[in-house]
Amino acid sequence: MSTLHASDITAFLEGQGNKETLRFITCGSVDDGKSTLIGRLLFESKAIFDDQLQSLASDSRQYGTQGEKVDLALLVDGLQAEREQGITIDVAYRFFATDKRRFIVADTPGHEQYTRNMATGASTADLAVILIDARKGVLTQTRRHSRIVAMMGIRHVVLAVNKMDLVEFGQETFNRIVADYQAFAAGFEFAKIEAIPLSGLDGDNVLQASARTPWYGGPTLMAYLDTVNVREQNARDVLRMPVQWVNRPNLDFRGFCGRIAEGVVRPGQAVRVLPSGVQSTVKSVIAGFGEVDVASKGDSITLTLTDEVDVSRGDVLVAADSPPEVADQFDARLLWMSEHAMAPGRQYLMKLACKEVTATVTDIKYREDVTTGAHLAAKSLGLNEMATVNLSTSAPLVFEPYGVNRTLGGFILIDKLTFETVGAGMLDFALRRASNIHWQALELNKNTRAAQKHQTPRCIWFTGLSGSGKSTIANLLDKRLHAEGKHTYLLDGDNVRHGLNRDLGFTEADRVENVRRVAEVAKLMVDAGLIVMVSFISPFSSERRMARELFADGEFLEVFVDTPIEECERRDAKGLYAKARKGELKNFTGIDSPYEAPENPELRLQTAQQDPEACVEQLLAALARIH
Ligand code: ADX
Repeated sequence: MSTLHASDITAFLEGQGNKETLRFITCGSVDDGKSTLIGRLLFESKAIFDDQLQSLASDSRQYGTQGEKVDLALLVDGLQAEREQGITIDVAYRFFATDKRRFIVADTPGHEQYTRNMATGASTADLAVILIDARKGVLTQTRRHSRIVAMMGIRHVVLAVNKMDLVEFGQETFNRIVADYQAFAAGFEFAKIEAIPLSGLDGDNVLQASARTPWYGGPTLMAYLDTVNVREQNARDVLRMPVQWVNRPNLDFRGFCGRIAEGVVRPGQAVRVLPSGVQSTVKSVIAGFGEVDVASKGDSITLTLTDEVDVSRGDVLVAADSPPEVADQFDARLLWMSEHAMAPGRQYLMKLACKEVTATVTDIKYREDVTTGAHLAAKSLGLNEMATVNLSTSAPLVFEPYGVNRTLGGFILIDKLTFETVGAGMLDFALRRASNIHWQALELNKNTRAAQKHQTPRCIWFTGLSGSGKSTIANLLDKRLHAEGKHTYLLDGDNVRHGLNRDLGFTEADRVENVRRVAEVAKLMVDAGLIVMVSFISPFSSERRMARELFADGEFLEVFVDTPIEECERRDAKGLYAKARKGELKNFTGIDSPYEAPENPELRLQTAQQDPEACVEQLLAALARIH
């Protein structure tokens, strides 16, 4: 056994040569004795240094729960703050090795509020050790853990029935728990469930076969982890390599670098570049410092091709005769990881393998209760909630279903403004091929239509609080432009909400959709050659940015009608502030729903300082400047 403590992962991995690696996740809570069990695996495989053993002994006296005995859980609950709270937080990765294999353990807390951590840990694991307290049997949390594990594509489960010492190593108790679990897990696509009776505290069936379970003929936990075959029976060896980087040090060399997600590659092999579909042949495969005859899944390599084909970061090199699909509309499962709820229609940055695109959830089909699996209706998704959704991307993606290929099927969503990772998901299937709907080229276009009207089409976007004066100013501007013979149209929030958007209310999700729709309508109107004014509160930076991105440079003018809320409330033309203050109107902007003021609007109008006519003069002057 190795005698290396694994805080130094690089040294650990290098020291373990070409041994096979098994990645597993442990699921359970503090009470199930999870930390003690992992601690025992690390301790007995001697994956810790002597000095740590000493500090462990002294820590055990200070924080331990085992009296004078060494408390193995302290090996795992490493962080001081966590120890003092008595719980483990976040995902911790630990490493140990035997003569046969090296192990990477993802250890995550089991409480419901840590669902996202467990999903993160499970996303790279091949096997899950699900802990059960023999006294308690299959619990609600066991079901939740199993569902997350199954969803993340883990197909091998060890049911570690722990604390057998507290149930007198009763065979019946064990059998009943196993039967309960098997009945529950029948609906999941697990390839194998191995149940082991053990005691993490005393070490029974962890590394040493226990004399106290003579009725048990199976392997110990360690023996099982050492030998289990997690490779898929019908593993494919078709090449999938997302291109991470194009290495072009000089004109004579062009290498495509990346990690092989699936299959093998050899010089002479026919490959295809996706999404373009162009075919070529592998000239050389470079791994480490030299050319090799073959490279396979997991290897980081550089490929050169015989032809000068166009390949860029995010493209995928695949076996020429069995390319994966390319699509831009998907059925996907999504786990939300942010405190800030997911809103359908909002744009997020999506990363899939090496590709980055903009993605939008176009529909939440149903939310899934992580504990019971029940399907629930939902309009948005909160932290740790999971749903099956329709996802639409700004560019075609080369993908495979997550169940077949985690690299080309697993993605994350990132907030475009804060760059926080807000969601993780799995693509299940394409809803439509990217190539099936084409942009219809029309003979008359924006330019011909605008020329006929003798004007430059624009979108003048007014944003501001309710009662800030947006509509009053937009109306006046409309009249002025009309009088000058311009062709205009005014899209006003209150009016559009009577028709096109009558199905929408004032939740964050509904406002996102409200603004998305009106932005698309404004775009069509600009395409028709009109000068369009949009007067919507449009409280979120994200959607105003989305609107801006629909238009050509200089075509979109963001006008911030900057009226302090006190002034809007004093005016209260529609009596809505009064109602909101009394609690009769929920989600009112500026009161119990946020307004994110624009940081760089093209124009800022301060209505508290000048009257609407003066604002319009300011607007006309601004328009004249950009003509
Ligand atoms: S937005 O936030 O989705 O852009 P929009 O501009 O369409 O809002 O509609 C705002 C108008 O709806 C307000 O001017 C007001 O008359 C009315 N309204 C009714 N309820 C609310 C509310 N809860 N918050 C803000 N405006 C409301």
